[in-house]
Amino acid sequence: MPVTLPRPIYKPTQSLVPGICHTPPAGQAAWYPPVMAGADTLGAKVARAETILQALVLMQRLTPDAYTTYLKDFYSHGLEKFEAHWRYADIVTVLLCLSEALQPRNYLEVGVRRGRSAAAVAVKAPRCTMALFDMWQTNYAGMENPGAEFVKSELRSIGYQGQAAFIDGNSHETLPAFFAQNPDMMFDIITVDGDHSELGAAQDICDVLPRLAIGGALVFDDIAHPFHPELNGVWKTLVESDDRFSTFSYREAGYGVGFAIRKH
Ligand SMILES: C[S@@+](CC[C@H](N)C(=O)[O-])C[C@H]1O[C@@H](n2cnc3c(N)ncnc32)[C@H](O)[C@@H]1O
Repeated sequence: MPVTLPRPIYKPTQSLVPGICHTPPAGQAAWYPPVMAGADTLGAKVARAETILQALVLMQRLTPDAYTTYLKDFYSHGLEKFEAHWRYADIVTVLLCLSEALQPRNYLEVGVRRGRSAAAVAVKAPRCTMALFDMWQTNYAGMENPGAEFVKSELRSIGYQGQAAFIDGNSHETLPAFFAQNPDMMFDIITVDGDHSELGAAQDICDVLPRLAIGGALVFDDIAHPFHPELNGVWKTLVESDDRFSTFSYREAGYGVGFAIRKH
């Protein structure tokens, strides 16, 4: 029985992502909603060999662990085998593309671990302000989870020059508290990759979505993960079927990933 949470209510906002929005000159009418491109345009760039190669290069720059070592081999093998025809996407290729196109001024992430996904944003938008939420669960998925100082050093090592705030603790407490303290703060890109339970992931999405700027992107990982089959239903119910977004969903290989661009 899928968890049903009501879709979050969005406050009207004037906050636009300049990198993807058209604003007419003063005095001219705005006939269309401001967002110029959505998931079709951006998704076509995500699943290209060129982007996968960028993801491979980024993994080579980060301190290796068992997962990134596997990923480097996976990327290399797929590129060798399928060359320019390979259509593959994951949280890293998605964030590389979105960050290049949107040039986010700020980024919120739930579920940081070793900073792999945050690094994909940092390498394309090195001055972007970041709010990074994690409870640093020990032995996460059988691997160590070294914490904020490690992530800071990883981000510095790839040239990140922005301000990153680490908000430690359970996102179901820290997100509501953070938003209560920052009632008007909106974000250009938000990633949800923390609590992988059905209700927990749905709660995180509902907490963050109202804070997505117009033209902003929500990224949700693992929509084809064999150990977390419920996440696909969460994504479909709360985001993919919501007309306020254009969406990209990749489930063909790996653990799957989705992103959504807020249209209005
Ligand atoms: C899948 S990992 C994140 C991976 C990272 N985004 C990447 O791409 O490498 C999930 C992280 O979420 C954290 N986490 C799990 N449940 C959480 C919760 N309720 N609140 C905050 N963090 C949580 C874990 O500590 C872990 O570091």
